Amino acid sequence: MRQTIIAGNWKMNGTRASAEALLGELIPLIANASAKVIVCPTSTALETVGDIIADTNIALGGQDLFWKAKGAYTGQISAGMLLDLGCEYVIVGHSECRGRFGVPEPDFTPTILAYFGDSDTTVNLKLRAALANNLIPILCVGETLQERQAGNTDSVVAAQTKAGLAEVSAEDAVEVIFAYEPVWAIGTGEVCASDEADRVCGVVRSAVAELYGSEVAEAVHIQYGGSVKPDNAIELLAKPNIDGALVGGASLKAQDFAAIVNAAP
Ligand code: PGA
Repeated sequence: MRQTIIAGNWKMNGTRASAEALLGELIPLIANASAKVIVCPTSTALETVGDIIADTNIALGGQDLFWKAKGAYTGQISAGMLLDLGCEYVIVGHSECRGRFGVPEPDFTPTILAYFGDSDTTVNLKLRAALANNLIPILCVGETLQERQAGNTDSVVAAQTKAGLAEVSAEDAVEVIFAYEPVWAIGTGEVCASDEADRVCGVVRSAVAELYGSEVAEAVHIQYGGSVKPDNAIELLAKPNIDGALVGGASLKAQDFAAIVNAAP
């Protein structure tokens, strides 16, 4: 039985003061949660959030990292820097970070939701840098609307899963948290139907099995992400292949995020 893992991706929202207010409300609401809870605040609030959650059941995660340890990489944050702030987790390959705004690529249909140029190659470098520093990566995979409409959902998701895991040992792979996030469901209010979300999480699990065998595949945690809300969380989290949720918008509201955390079966 895999423990449910609920992660809140705050994206580029909030100040230290608003983070403090949000957590002040959230912490008592989830004090008895059976799920593992992670919050991923914006980088400027990581230290503040880390201090506030130090003695709680909430763990800290970054939203992205760069794969080099240090150097002339303007604007970037390394795994070591995230560790220094108390992070245990880091999101890699979020769809908002994949692709590049305005630059069409043959295998990626750019939308205004893709900005920072991540490719399967850089996602893999980031994932390996996280693992090498004992940060647990949350590897996001998911198809765009165009890819779904073309019938390519399973091949895109399997390919992103495998590419993300390139040169990763089975020992490390078992630590990775996967997040199936259909791009068309992120921030749109359009949730993927629970049976379909479960099915595609199964595609991720099969891709892991092809690389490492069924024991690793059965052990890894696979979240669903994309418009998870209190009113759909119970149904999604009850599905056999869905081991948690990666929550964007609803993680900014203490009552909503707590309801999702407490929806864990
Ligand atoms: P959303 O975002 O819950 O606002 O759809 C999910 C995500 O981007 O991780």
